[in-house]
Amino acid sequence: MRKKIVAANWKMNMTVGESMAFMDTFLHELGADNSVEVVIVPPFTALAKVSEILSVGQQAKLGAQNMHWEKPGAFTGEISAPMLRELYVRYVVLGHSERRTLFGESDEIVNKKTRAAIDAALRPIVCIGETLSERDADKVEEVLDRQIKGSLAGVSARELVDVVIAYEPVWAIGTGRTATPQQAQDAHAFIRAKLAELWDSASAEKVRIQYGGSVKAQNAAELMGQADIDGALVGGASLDPRGFAEIVKAAARG
Ligand code: 13P
Repeated sequence: MRKKIVAANWKMNMTVGESMAFMDTFLHELGADNSVEVVIVPPFTALAKVSEILSVGQQAKLGAQNMHWEKPGAFTGEISAPMLRELYVRYVVLGHSERRTLFGESDEIVNKKTRAAIDAALRPIVCIGETLSERDADKVEEVLDRQIKGSLAGVSARELVDVVIAYEPVWAIGTGRTATPQQAQDAHAFIRAKLAELWDSASAEKVRIQYGGSVKAQNAAELMGQADIDGALVGGASLDPRGFAEIVKAAARG
């Protein structure tokens, strides 16, 4: 049985002050139910404060939105895995479509980061997903196949089970246009079958695959009720503490 994992990707939102206010309301709303793994993914500037807040009750884990694959060094503007580890970060989002399209991250770069994260005992949340034109051209499976092979090259079966994959169709991100539960389930089933083919089916069964793209409290339960949807990576709707708590509760029911 895969434990569901719901993550709040705040993207470039939330000051330290806003993060504190969010956590106050969110942890209160969340209560003590820990049947779902919850990950808060603030911007780098708020990691230390959110880490401090989470150190008390541990109802949620901490994630980062990106990292560099090198350890220390002359990489102005970058953050390394050891820096994240020091703040008790457990997960790191890698290869988000915004990183891929706006900041030129290739599968090769995502692969280097994935390797570095695993070596530092951080769990990668590796994002994959097709654009609208790729879907219209019937290339969903081709794109997912390429991204899986490229991003996860060299990962062993033992390492794979701790990787989270986020299926985020680019056309559903921030658009209010969610994939239908069936569209999402089809993509997730394809991803799992591909993992089984490239690694083995026992490992593929253990990998958690999140859906991301306009998830909100109203559609979360149906999406996460699908057989191969093991959680959600939530952007816009994760900025509202009550709404995000509702999504976590929907995951617990799903
Ligand atoms: P939205 O939930 O705002 O569509 O963003 C999804 C996303 O990109 C999460 O990483």
